[in-house]
Amino acid sequence: MFYTILLKSHSGLRWILLVSLIFALVKFFRAARGNSHVRRLVPYTLISMILMHIQVLFGLLLYFISPKVIFAAESMKNSVHRFFLVEHISLMLIAAILITIGYSKTKKQINTPFGAKRLLIYYGIALIIILASIPWPFRGLGAAWM
Ligand code: HEM
Repeated sequence: MFYTILLKSHSGLRWILLVSLIFALVKFFRAARGNSHVRRLVPYTLISMILMHIQVLFGLLLYFISPKVIFAAESMKNSVHRFFLVEHISLMLIAAILITIGYSKTKKQINTPFGAKRLLIYYGIALIIILASIPWPFRGLGAAWM
């Protein structure tokens, strides 16, 4: 029961996180080009970082209760087990670290074109890593769209 709720929350939150990251990136892009109408990047930056941290927390809880994560050497021979045991967690942690570093390095200059450019790079790379590490249904890893 707890597992199902957690899995559905983890799966559904991906969409909210992706939308918030895309919104933030559009804002950063416009601010980086010096568009004077674009101010107050803080909420976009913070909301997507908090959603990412919640997603990591759900993921870490799932990691220890999921039947797809098997702590055994044989897991490396099975593509689904290897994906959830090693690939998904390591790439998602890298993405979370990039987002967190991007935010903390930019904190004092967020509403400047320089800060926006820096955020664009950190959050942009993190989004690419996230998109590449999601177990999309077409990848045959037994995961769903929702
Ligand atoms: C360190 C961070 C993360 C860990 C440890 C983690 C762990 C896991 C685990 C163990 C599963 C398999 C659950 C199961 O089917 O039993 C899973 C599935 C999944 N994860 Fe993560 N995850 C992390 C971050 C993320 C992030 C950032 C996203 C998306 C933005 C994400 C999206 C998904 C999706 C879409 C599934 C498939 C859910 C389904 O089967 O419907 N994960 N994750």
